[in-house]
Amino acid sequence: MEYKPLNKKLILEGLKDTIFKDAIILEEIDSTNEFAKRISKKDNVLIVAEHQTAGKGRRGRRWFSKKYANLLFSLLLKPDLTKEYTFSLSMALALSSVFSIEKIAEVKALIKWPNDIYVNQKKIAGILTEFSLKGEKLDYVIIGMGINVNWAPKAEELLYPATSLKDETGRTFEREILLLDILKRFSDYYKKILSGDIDELYRSWNEHSLIIGKTVSAEDGTKGKALRIEKDGSLIILADGKEKRITYGDINL
Ligand code: BTN
Repeated sequence: MEYKPLNKKLILEGLKDTIFKDAIILEEIDSTNEFAKRISKKDNVLIVAEHQTAGKGRRGRRWFSKKYANLLFSLLLKPDLTKEYTFSLSMALALSSVFSIEKIAEVKALIKWPNDIYVNQKKIAGILTEFSLKGEKLDYVIIGMGINVNWAPKAEELLYPATSLKDETGRTFEREILLLDILKRFSDYYKKILSGDIDELYRSWNEHSLIIGKTVSAEDGTKGKALRIEKDGSLIILADGKEKRITYGDINL
């Protein structure tokens, strides 16, 4: 199928309802997260790419996409916060995308710990958050997100089943509309986080979790019922009658 380039004018116009003052839309780049690091002196910038030659996933993995088909973007932020808030910032983007996907594509989306987005048991989006510190505070945070909008990689390239909004609905989607809807929601969350108010966000990420209440196994061998995801991002599993804290790795259902 023929994919359409992004409408830059539409994106720039839509940004006025968000915290983003500037958008950089690139035809091709190694990785939008890497690009964001190179311009990390700037504040509140959106970086979007049509194609990445070295898209990065979590834990050294690759992120695959197809030119003009999907959303590949990074948010470069300079919040006056300590590093404990980085998980909240990632969740603000994860939840924003969950609500936007549900509104625009009319499919149920859930967050698989730590911050993958799943639709019908398949991964549709992923988030890679990177940050740098200045003393106790965050110097910058880069939240990179890839969303399979109109194309998904084949299962054999990946460790998990993947899907796209197109695969799930049979429709193709205007990427700009989805992106702007996400960024508006994210902006509201961001302002709340800056004021230190993350209670509602915390409740919401537990409510929209794919794994809470289910039997899960962690990479360290812990197996039990997923109870909650704490404010710092750790996952609490009830295993052998005791609460066990998981801070790293992937979870199997
Ligand atoms: C994961 O699920 O492993 C995280 C995937 C993150 C992919 C996005 S695409 C835009 C940004 N640039 C990157 O190189 N990675 C993130």
